Amino acid sequence: MTTLLDTDTDLVEELRALLAGEPDPIANAANTASLIYTRLPRLNWAGFYFLQGDTLVLGPFQGLPACTRIPLGRGVCGTAAARNETIVVDDVHDFPGHIACDSASLSEIVVPLTIAGKLSGVLDIDSPHPARFTKADQALIEAAATIYAEACAGGQGGK
Ligand code: SME
Repeated sequence: MTTLLDTDTDLVEELRALLAGEPDPIANAANTASLIYTRLPRLNWAGFYFLQGDTLVLGPFQGLPACTRIPLGRGVCGTAAARNETIVVDDVHDFPGHIACDSASLSEIVVPLTIAGKLSGVLDIDSPHPARFTKADQALIEAAATIYAEACAGGQGGK
């Protein structure tokens, strides 16, 4: 029988194989967003924002069109980047300053990306269900962010 844990382990290994030997950050972001969006149930958006100066700029994603620029410190994405820590929001209406790109989004997880020791952006996942993201999901998305960062750093380690 396949458990949720097995499925998650499969996804992590699948992502590792998908990105192996490819350092291009855009290609890797596109494949990472696609894999997460198509493999994790109950999502309506999965994608990347990349830090340019003090602004997060939209990168590859799956889902509806989204806001292009988010200042550092604004919204869930800008706050996660400014704090350099993962933020899980069970109900986006309870997060002051949440930026609603898709009004269907109810819960959200944002994981900062550190490539070669430098804050490079965030991985943002939205769900139309409240409290969609468990501790196990957080561990999974953080693992995905680390695999992405390591691949982009040329296998030298993302941290
Ligand atoms: N909700 C995010 C904005 C990005 S979209 O969810 C794709 C935020 O508050 O930062």
